[in-house]
Amino acid sequence: MNQPGPPGFAFVLFGGTGDLAMRKILPALYAAHRDGMLAPDGRIISVAMTTLDHSGYLGWVDEHVKPRISGTAIDDGVWRSFLERITYVALDAGQPEAFSVLRETLGAAHGRRIFYLATGPALFVPICSALGTAGLTEGARVVLEKPLGYDLESSTAINDAVGRIFNEEQIYRIDHYLGKEAVQNLFALRFGNSLFEPLWRREWVESIQITVAEELGVEGRGNFYDQTGALRDMVQNHLLQLMSIVAMEPPRSMDADAVRDEKLRVLRALKPVLGEQIRQSVVRGQYHAGAINGVSVPAYHAEPGVRPESRTETFVALKVEVENWRWAGVPFFLRTGKRLGARVAEIVVNFRTVPHSALGPMALRPGSNRLTIRLQPTESIRLSALAKQPGLGMTLQGVYLDLAFDQFFQQDRMEAYQRLLLDVIAGRLALFVRRDEQEAAWRWVAPIIDDWATQDTPPRSYSSGTWGPAAASALLARHNTCWLEEEN
Ligand code: BG6
Repeated sequence: MNQPGPPGFAFVLFGGTGDLAMRKILPALYAAHRDGMLAPDGRIISVAMTTLDHSGYLGWVDEHVKPRISGTAIDDGVWRSFLERITYVALDAGQPEAFSVLRETLGAAHGRRIFYLATGPALFVPICSALGTAGLTEGARVVLEKPLGYDLESSTAINDAVGRIFNEEQIYRIDHYLGKEAVQNLFALRFGNSLFEPLWRREWVESIQITVAEELGVEGRGNFYDQTGALRDMVQNHLLQLMSIVAMEPPRSMDADAVRDEKLRVLRALKPVLGEQIRQSVVRGQYHAGAINGVSVPAYHAEPGVRPESRTETFVALKVEVENWRWAGVPFFLRTGKRLGARVAEIVVNFRTVPHSALGPMALRPGSNRLTIRLQPTESIRLSALAKQPGLGMTLQGVYLDLAFDQFFQQDRMEAYQRLLLDVIAGRLALFVRRDEQEAAWRWVAPIIDDWATQDTPPRSYSSGTWGPAAASALLARHNTCWLEEEN
């Protein structure tokens, strides 16, 4: 049974007419409302700098948000009651004196205040300062969207400034991957079963792959993406978070800090990749024209908002090592990119082969024992093993134990944003990134960012619809392995 959240919250959405509000946040709030998970007196206050009035804004929500809501058909009555929760405030977030309007709108009734900053990072500090000056921060929560900064220095500056106004326990840094059902299932799989834990270490694991591949290109975000690139957009946050969950020690409990302490230990134990190792361990690529599912797509350079001579990477593959007793010497291969061969996110754990085969060479073939955890587009786990083919001989063949979660659990999955927004409203911090985690991740990617900024060579090009530059395959071949889709 869905439980309505605690009473009396005011959810203040800065960037109320922005892309994120339109695509993710308002649809997620609607879904929570529809599912009866929001307290009846919870209010949404959308803030933006437009000339719209209240009814004009509701018209905008009708036109732009409604078509983006997935799932069952929208019931008119439910939609209307959702719109009734919304108040629109036109406000220039760069003008602190304008925040008195917000204070009046909030009134005294709503103790539980949530300020969601769905704006560019440049506005994070001005908005937080103005909220502080307007006396609105006590007991409030602030949600910061990614990207939080552009590098370690800028994210530290933002964290310092926001930290002068809000305590760490009031700050919710979003990484929407942590809100995905499949990602939380990693905790269940690892720490709810005794089955995997004894094998989850260097003695038994040969290598691990983490892939987050997209078919989409930059989707009208060329301007933003060209300043960002895949390392900042995906690796610094989503991939390193996934990796830290895969590699972490079992936490004492699922309390926010117990979990975040263990993830932090992994992030701090990442072996630095420096100097010449960057060229050996990191591959950056950029897509050119090609076809996705038979439909021609343009080159990255031809996307609106992208500089014609841009060297921004749309693909990264890298080898990462964790310097601790559990993982010393085990390569983690991380890979992400746009315009790749399929939309897929998966974690592949390759176990070592038997130390001696009495059954011929097949049993010594790498990858015979493997756990594949698929996160997207569907959730599944597959355990690969060897079995005997029926007959007189002892011929081995790969077989699978497969579990498709959507067949087992037939109920609908909650979108990551819906889950995370409900967590903010309820004050659950476990699925949000703590400052030290975020800074450890920036610290680790910093030498790569710096190296690329000074390199003369452009990223390696790859055709849209493929699996990235050949160098990404060569990276694994040097470790006697290959990406999962390259296996025959
Ligand atoms: C976002 C990135 O954080 O994640 C996007 O900014 C990317 O570039 C998106 O497309 C991928 O998320 P998902 O949930 O579609 O895998």
